Amino acid sequence: MMKSVFIGCGAYLPQRKVSNDELAAKVDTSDDWIVARTGISSRHIAADGEMTSDLAHAAAVTALSSAGMAASELDLIVLATATPDQTFPATATKVQARLGVPGIPAFDVQAVCSGFIYALAVADNFIKAAQARNVLVIGAETFSRILDWEDRTTCVLFGDGAGAVVLRAEDEVAGTGRRSDSRGIMSTHLHADGRHHDMLYVDGGPSSTGTAGVIQMRGKEVFRHAVSNLAAVVTEALEANDLAPGDINWLVPHQANQRIIDHTARKLKMPREKVVLTVAEHGNTSAASVPLALNAAVSDGRIKQGDVILMEAMGGGFTWGSVLARW
Ligand code: UT7
Repeated sequence: MMKSVFIGCGAYLPQRKVSNDELAAKVDTSDDWIVARTGISSRHIAADGEMTSDLAHAAAVTALSSAGMAASELDLIVLATATPDQTFPATATKVQARLGVPGIPAFDVQAVCSGFIYALAVADNFIKAAQARNVLVIGAETFSRILDWEDRTTCVLFGDGAGAVVLRAEDEVAGTGRRSDSRGIMSTHLHADGRHHDMLYVDGGPSSTGTAGVIQMRGKEVFRHAVSNLAAVVTEALEANDLAPGDINWLVPHQANQRIIDHTARKLKMPREKVVLTVAEHGNTSAASVPLALNAAVSDGRIKQGDVILMEAMGGGFTWGSVLARW
């Protein structure tokens, strides 16, 4: 049986950083409100003409470099995004062209904020099925393009960015079981409940309005569902691996709201020091949020080889899920 081992990660944030005060000069909001209700202090916003594929490509290049792998060694690219450059082709194919690796499969996964978790699960299954050995998995978004900048209930929440990882197929050490010390993805769990598709959505699209549309969200209801779905999915991951909360070294959560993250951490009885937090500086970057957080903690040395990490996310659809792995 093959196992998917993380061998590198990278990230890219657009240069322009927008503070809460800058937003408060444009809409009826305040730094105090945004920080108290969300934990967000600033977010990065893509420059005019800077597209999701540009962010994704930059993150991919740093991930490949940290993995010490040439793009030519890849045999699959999976890119999670809800803000593709165009309706089609898949943004993954544009990244592929810029990396100069024609011929290998490259496609997008759309699960909004859970996109990176979904993309990791897809990549892991390709590896387990021996259909790929070296996989580039990217989460990249330009949510600034689908915000109503006059709607204070949404425009203060989101940001742009990209993160990426490189997975390599390695032989599972025989007979070590679920408590194995060997590195790699230990489990993935995915869920969706389309009955709630109208709680968090974009009011446009090619087959409805023919326009890109902007985000609409019933924040309180989304919050309530996020808290309960994420508590359920972290419990599911622990039980499936016969692990206790104390076995997890790092929680790497989706960065939508500090209060949601605190709730999940309490459920796991994890102190704040073991939770990777980037929501203050990045805001909610949707599919990019988990790999951006992961990259932050790997590059500053907090996450070390052998650490057990629990990644989780929840987003529009609703979709939600987890990936448990030994780094
Ligand atoms: O990544 C996908 C998942 N997304 C999420 O997880 C988001 C989940 N939801 C949330 O994070 C929170 O519900 C929000 C941050 C969106 C909102 O926080 P809340 O504590 O649920 O606030 P609320 O919507 O109940 O609004 C409270 C008040 C309202 O005023 P009234 O009706 O009490 O007078 C809002 O109009 O705050 C007002 N408000 C604001 N005030 C200042 C809403 N947005 C703002 C704002 N600045 N930006």
